[in-house]
Amino acid sequence: MILMTIFPQGDLGLEGIEDLVLDVAKVDLAGVRDDKIVTEWASIHKIMSNVRDLLKMSGYSDKAVEYYENHLNVGIIENPDAQFIYTGPCGDTMELFLKITSAVITDAKFQAIGCAGSFTAGSALTKMINGKTLKYCEKLDEKDILDHLGSMPQQKVHCARLAIMTLKKAIKHYKKRST
Ligand code: FES
Repeated sequence: MILMTIFPQGDLGLEGIEDLVLDVAKVDLAGVRDDKIVTEWASIHKIMSNVRDLLKMSGYSDKAVEYYENHLNVGIIENPDAQFIYTGPCGDTMELFLKITSAVITDAKFQAIGCAGSFTAGSALTKMINGKTLKYCEKLDEKDILDHLGSMPQQKVHCARLAIMTLKKAIKHYKKRST
């Protein structure tokens, strides 16, 4: 579980992730600090020294890993027609930017402060909605994201919900403003 909560957004790189793994291991063990376990964490991470392998082993599909590695659609859109920031119950936050013409989404990008799950879900969502009508997008749910990705860890299903909720709120906000 810990592994999937420490993946950062952005370009931290493997070395930074290694440091984070060790930091998280130490923090996680605060109070029951056991150097042997910390050492084991370090060994485990050295063995699985490839983020791709870690994600796959955690249950992310090849497509999800590819999206995460390539930061698909991560970014901002200047002067978007719709924009919304939403923080889920877990504390992760997503910001969605949409370009909309004649009720069709013509471009979609996102930023997030969150885990690998939120990034893969954000990439999947923005890919899925590009070129689609608002009516179509309003009907999407987290299962559609999971179907699109193929698989992601069970405990990360709520990350797909974060992306869907951000989309729904962005559309609602856009419609409210446009009437
Ligand atoms: Fe909450 Fe990923 S852990 S969105």
